[in-house]
Amino acid sequence: MHNEIEKILISQEEIQEKCQEIGAQLTEEYDGRFPLVIGVLKGAMPFMGDLLKRVETHLEMDFMDVSSYNGGMKSTGEVKIVKDLDTQVEGRDLLIIEDIIDSGLTLSYLVDLFKYRKAKSIRIVTLLDKPTGRSANIKADIIGFEVPDEFVVGYGLDYEEKYRNLPYIGVLKPEVYGG
Ligand code: XMP
Ligand code: MG
Repeated sequence: MHNEIEKILISQEEIQEKCQEIGAQLTEEYDGRFPLVIGVLKGAMPFMGDLLKRVETHLEMDFMDVSSYNGGMKSTGEVKIVKDLDTQVEGRDLLIIEDIIDSGLTLSYLVDLFKYRKAKSIRIVTLLDKPTGRSANIKADIIGFEVPDEFVVGYGLDYEEKYRNLPYIGVLKPEVYGG
């Protein structure tokens, strides 16, 4: 698996350090507020796990699976709910956790949905931001790392459902896309 990676963009150590830093910030911001933390499946799963271990105040977790991708590398532009929340969001402080913001279509759809459902506040934390890909007018409140306009895998991010279990963020060798 590792030999299919051309280069590592963000190391395991850098990711863990960043989780510590953002975790401390969230502890301060949400102390005493019992936020509802929403992980966007499947990509946010490793980041959510590592990050929330560093948040030292009470919180509730739920998950949503919203898809604008078909398993390949191109956005279809179409957002659909694969799995909805089990929790009511009305009156809650929401913290959405994402792996990457690219076009921003997924997140702008979610933010509109949660506003419609009368959330008290909505904040977004994303591990990666790819600002060059943006078509929707949306910005994360907390960004781990900015990445260039390249397709990245690892630490939750997949190519055809593979590589999510890599502990770092990297770029695939071109021949991997060929097969
Ligand atoms: P949008 O375009 O709606 O995309 O902001 C958000 C979702 O698209 C996926 N995505 C990627 N997945 N490498 C990936 O493995 C990438 O470079 C990439 N760019 C976008 C991802 O699932 C994200 O949640
Ligand atoms: Mg994906």
